[in-house]
Amino acid sequence: MNNRNNTAAAGIARLSLSLPNGLAQELDQLVREKGAASRSALVTDLVRADVVEHRSRRGKQEIAGAITLVYDHHARNLQAKLTDLQHDAENLIVSVMHVHLSHHDCLEVLAVRGPADKVRTLADRLAAVRGVKHSKLTITTTERGH
Ligand code: NI
Repeated sequence: MNNRNNTAAAGIARLSLSLPNGLAQELDQLVREKGAASRSALVTDLVRADVVEHRSRRGKQEIAGAITLVYDHHARNLQAKLTDLQHDAENLIVSVMHVHLSHHDCLEVLAVRGPADKVRTLADRLAAVRGVKHSKLTITTTERGH
């Protein structure tokens, strides 16, 4: 076991935390099922993901991510609206993949990169178009050190 000085030197903070019994068991199960190296490794991933998500909610920091949309292409004017919004945001959209899911539904995945507030605004506008059944913005970061 590392003593406090060694862990500090290695850039690691040792935390002690309390979890309800049930949740602690769930954590151990998650470690096994995900094949994580340890509880610490899994909690590190969870905290890091939440920090990225939280920071991305505002600000000019550059982020990258994907906007996933599912929509019924028969919905009136829907494709024209989506196309207009995407052309207005051409500097944010890196790439688009379109999949015809079924007779009605299309899946679109937009790779995006740009200031956090602009990317989020684009995602919100696309999600608000009538006929969009599902929309999700998944964010990663372009910053180093994460
Ligand atoms: Ni389609």
